[in-house]
Amino acid sequence: MAKYIGKEMSRVDGVAKVTGRAKYAAEFQVPNIAYGFIVQSSIAKGLITAIDTAEAEKQTGVIHVFTHENAPKPGQPKGTEAKPQTGGREPDKSFRALQSNQIFFNMQPVALVLAETFEQARHAARLVKVAYKTEKPSTDFENSLERAFVPNPERAPKERGKAAQAMKSAPVKIEAEYTIPIEHHNPMEPHGAIAFWENDKLTIFDKTQGVYTVRRHLANSFAISEEMVNVVSPFVGGAFGSSLRANYYPWLAAMAAQILKRPVKLIYTRQQMYTGNGYRPRSWQKVALGASREGKLQSIVHEAANNSSTTEDYLENINNFTRSIYACPNVDTPQKIVKTDLATPCAMRAPGAVSGMFALECAMDELAYALKIDPLELRLINYTDLNPDNNKPYSSKALRECYQLASEKFGWKNRKFEPRSMRDGRLLVGWGTATGTWGAFLQSATVKIVYKADGTAHITSAASDIGPGTYTVITMIAAEHLGLPAERVKFELGDSKFPRAPSQGGSWTTASVGTATFEAANNIRQKLFDLANKDANSPFKTNKVEDVEMLDGKLQHRNDAANSVNIAELMRKNNLTEIVEIHESKVSPERQKYATAAHGAQFVEVKVDPDLGIVRVTRVVEATACGKIMNPKTSHSQEIGGVVWGIGMALTEATEIDHRFGRIMNPNLQHYHVPVNADVLDIETMFVEEEDKIVNPLGVKGMGELGMVGIPAAIANAVFHATGKRIRDLPITPDKLL
Ligand code: MOS
Repeated sequence: MAKYIGKEMSRVDGVAKVTGRAKYAAEFQVPNIAYGFIVQSSIAKGLITAIDTAEAEKQTGVIHVFTHENAPKPGQPKGTEAKPQTGGREPDKSFRALQSNQIFFNMQPVALVLAETFEQARHAARLVKVAYKTEKPSTDFENSLERAFVPNPERAPKERGKAAQAMKSAPVKIEAEYTIPIEHHNPMEPHGAIAFWENDKLTIFDKTQGVYTVRRHLANSFAISEEMVNVVSPFVGGAFGSSLRANYYPWLAAMAAQILKRPVKLIYTRQQMYTGNGYRPRSWQKVALGASREGKLQSIVHEAANNSSTTEDYLENINNFTRSIYACPNVDTPQKIVKTDLATPCAMRAPGAVSGMFALECAMDELAYALKIDPLELRLINYTDLNPDNNKPYSSKALRECYQLASEKFGWKNRKFEPRSMRDGRLLVGWGTATGTWGAFLQSATVKIVYKADGTAHITSAASDIGPGTYTVITMIAAEHLGLPAERVKFELGDSKFPRAPSQGGSWTTASVGTATFEAANNIRQKLFDLANKDANSPFKTNKVEDVEMLDGKLQHRNDAANSVNIAELMRKNNLTEIVEIHESKVSPERQKYATAAHGAQFVEVKVDPDLGIVRVTRVVEATACGKIMNPKTSHSQEIGGVVWGIGMALTEATEIDHRFGRIMNPNLQHYHVPVNADVLDIETMFVEEEDKIVNPLGVKGMGELGMVGIPAAIANAVFHATGKRIRDLPITPDKLL
């Protein structure tokens, strides 16, 4: 019987967080610190013709002003083999500040002021005068689609079957275009770092999802070995993908610290977060579905394009899941990008998937209405147990059970098919559904466990916890398999001195670091088992190591607690005060024989005011199947958070750009509308647990991104059901419904 796994556990770091003891990057106390403030461009494209820092430098407290004229050049990133763990496919070609007089995007950093206090730096920053030669920026993605191109033709997804031909002959067809604006991550904690040098050694406290990524980025930048850089990031106040890459500020902070020979603190303002750490790209999609009159899909053509910058080709993998989510013999999913004079986009919670599934799942709803088939029924008609893209069976897939559980709980069978057929007083009521999916990713990871004879364990791994509860879940896994009370297990993460772990992204941390922890604990059990069996009187002489477990400070037979050895005594006898295990987990070859993914079904009720066009999401029932649930408490929290993100994407979130100036008009939480408590009503999340030892030994799949994937589509479909209007351009704001 499991003691911890599968049981609710409050966050082990919860008290530290709510009492302020948990230190975020910019909160570390370092003596003699200099404060940086970034000056940003006021144009989107062109050249700096003159930059005058004299007035700024005269101000009280100002130490130095860096511009492209006096800033050093960072060492070039070494080779494309040095891939950052972005969860993406791009080598580190990230934008570096103050390298030339060229302007690539509005609000690009053009100077960095250092002063004795933050206020002095901010004041002086306003006095830096920049003259520009301005060119007309191109930031209007929609009107630039004719410039769309395929960035990596050799890696482009291949057509399956003959999609265009099958589309022509399909008896029932729909085709529609969908657009999604730029969205920003907007974590609570602004991005920031404190950097200082001790001789040739750099230490940086940084908000990051991957200390190893930042370490490599800085080692390359200063042309020093990675051992000379220590990146520390014990707590992260949300990141959602915005801290997967190093971003431009850690190098700025470290560069300034090196030249000033004193510690430097540099934090983005909220406004600077809109161009300093990526965003979900703007996207255009066209989905054509062809089906038999019975609803069997015969062809899917799902085209997608997203905006990138002029400095990098960021391709969002938007239509990837279209290839595998339904049985369909003919599928084409071309992907393009459009270069714009904006900062480079990046991964943002459920990158690609949530955008692509918005279009596909709205299109499925449109097809259901064309066929006059219940939208849930249409999905069941096209259900697949194999990944149709490679014909591999899923290691587990309880999507059918998710549909069933959530639809029953929601009361879907009481839905009237016709739009505008359900009411609550004067409000129009709409019920919508959509499918969600995300990969069940796994990366190799390394953990170190120090098991002490006093019955405590100390575990370290350079993982990150941006909020999902990684501190807690790794503590639980270790406590379970080392047979110790959780209070006696201490897990530390977020330090590049610890063994390598993947960045926290892709919802793969529990699977990856959890597997390494589980296997490392098993290796400790093996060592103890071998020690025990050195003794002639060992009770395990006839047993295999799998027959014993570590429990309550003992090594004992699983089915016979009387057969046990006290671990502390065993270690004392062998003159051991501790056992150290450093273990790297590997992805099993067995996994490659299967398709692996997590799935979910969502049912949404909206109420629409017919006079004001205001949509409220009054009820959401979501069932997800993502393997074994380690900690239901934090897991539900992830799914609820995903639903809230989906509500924001569907109804309120959009980064608005004034295309005359290529400038973001709403870079703040007042005008960029994330959902607030009043937007969030009844949300119920459920799990259909899957037993899956193929995906990894713990049977864990990620859920942090999964929970949001189908939500925007389900809401848009519910809005159609309520109003009879298809809004294919997010967010669904009142003006579009009136
Ligand atoms: Mo996430 S977008 O994989 O941090």
